[in-house]
Amino acid sequence: MWTLIALLLGLVHVSFALVYLYLTWFHTYWDKRGLVTAKPITLLGSYPGLFGGSTTFIGDLGKIYNKYKGKHRAVGVFLTRQPQILVLDPALAHEVLVKNFSDFRDTVTSSYVTHSKDYDKYVARNPFFSAGDEWKKRRTDGGAGLTSNKLKQAYVIWEQTGKTLLDYIGRSIEERADTVIETRDLCYRYTAQAMGDFIWGIDAGSLSCGINETSQFQKLTTAWAYNAFQNMRNFNKTAIAPIMRRMFRMRFFTQESNDIYLKLTQDAAKLRQSGSGTSRNDYLSHLLQLQQKGATDDDMVGHALTLLMDGFETSGAVLYHFLYTLGEYQEQQEKLRAEILNALETDKIITYEQLNALPYLDQCVNESMRLTSAIGFFIKICTKPTTIDLGDGKILNVEPGITVAIPTYHLHHDEAFYSDPMTFKPERFDNDAASEFTKRGCLLPFGDGPRICMGMRMGLLNVKMAVVQILSKYKVEQTTKLPLSSDSGLGIFLEGDVNLKYTKL
Ligand code: HEM
Repeated sequence: MWTLIALLLGLVHVSFALVYLYLTWFHTYWDKRGLVTAKPITLLGSYPGLFGGSTTFIGDLGKIYNKYKGKHRAVGVFLTRQPQILVLDPALAHEVLVKNFSDFRDTVTSSYVTHSKDYDKYVARNPFFSAGDEWKKRRTDGGAGLTSNKLKQAYVIWEQTGKTLLDYIGRSIEERADTVIETRDLCYRYTAQAMGDFIWGIDAGSLSCGINETSQFQKLTTAWAYNAFQNMRNFNKTAIAPIMRRMFRMRFFTQESNDIYLKLTQDAAKLRQSGSGTSRNDYLSHLLQLQQKGATDDDMVGHALTLLMDGFETSGAVLYHFLYTLGEYQEQQEKLRAEILNALETDKIITYEQLNALPYLDQCVNESMRLTSAIGFFIKICTKPTTIDLGDGKILNVEPGITVAIPTYHLHHDEAFYSDPMTFKPERFDNDAASEFTKRGCLLPFGDGPRICMGMRMGLLNVKMAVVQILSKYKVEQTTKLPLSSDSGLGIFLEGDVNLKYTKL
């Protein structure tokens, strides 16, 4: 009996020792290679906030960034047990993203769906989740439908959606006899409407419906995007034991939503091909061209959902943060309105070229995205043996598989690059300075280099059109101050209802 107990106790000890060894195996990795190390916590590595509790992932990144920045170009950290390099010098961020891109070609999300390509097939087709040559092909095929020329041809869709947005705001104020509108909902209605029209040629009904009614498309897309972002948090947590992804058959999109979007795409394609759907310049036309070159129905849905994810969610989030910020900064809002009204004065419309050439609008969008940073960090993967110059004559050898974190939110809020960083000051980007900040690696709302956001032009079109329409007719004011929050997903967001007051000019 005693022998058995002793044996069991011995086994328990050995198991604990093995788990401990597993979790801490790499903790001396950076010391051995001469990189200053931020001391990790045994189980959780450098970012305990990844698993909830009193801190957040972005908060943890910030603590390390603020402790070591200015003294080192990079610091060794641990994504749970895996060694990771945290970039502290924006010039190094630029090297990783642009100059030495071929050494850091993939992103951490490229590894998330390698186990589930068969059943999570639409996520696996998104360039954000792809690696190597597959990434290149998907990006080339999908991005070809989003060139400046293509968006210019489809511009009428945004002009129309912008007008429908104004109509919805007008009806909302009148029918409810209330000038305060919850603007997160408003922005997602707008992006759902624009994306339904551009991707599938359908009226999503999210703005054309009754006030506070929710169309089928909006319900479906809201639930789909919510589920996907929730899953992004879960995937980020599985860094502690990536095998869990395979074991639990983890996925981003449900089978049910896959089926619905497949049917939507097939029906829209049939209608267009039958000739009863009008021929038009939109993304569906692009998808049909890809089909002629051999793209399958699944490829088409993959491209469509790549657009929907950020064209609906990320663009909507950037837009409501921007309107919220403008609602606080009235002087800047007035200046921006003057620029917009001036552009509208001659022809009463703003062309695609004009929209992109309004300097103060561009500065305001950049400054708003700097302040709120929809995607607060990037994690890149080293894809071939390379080196990083640590300064003071020290060179770090980096092995393939090592990840590199770029803390964009913290670069965007560092006083060393931005005076008074928590204040909205679009004037800091006067004289096209934003592109200089990007080259220096400290303004990265869309990333940079060959993996820069594939939908940047469309995201900006979404946001700029809505702001131009709204400011040309309404003064926007904040009614409540909201806290900025973050979790173990990708970004930073306002917590609570974004109630803004819209006063007709
Ligand atoms: C204003 C809204 C948007 C913002 C702020 C934004 C931001 C970003 C950022 C920061 C990245 C990561 C870059 C990196 O990992 O280095 C990214 C990647 C990406 N974005 Fe966007 N995005 C927006 C809208 C869109 C839209 C409308 C699309 C639709 C096509 C899109 C598609 C993508 C794709 C496919 C990638 C992955 C690119 C690659 O890895 O090659 N985004 N975006």
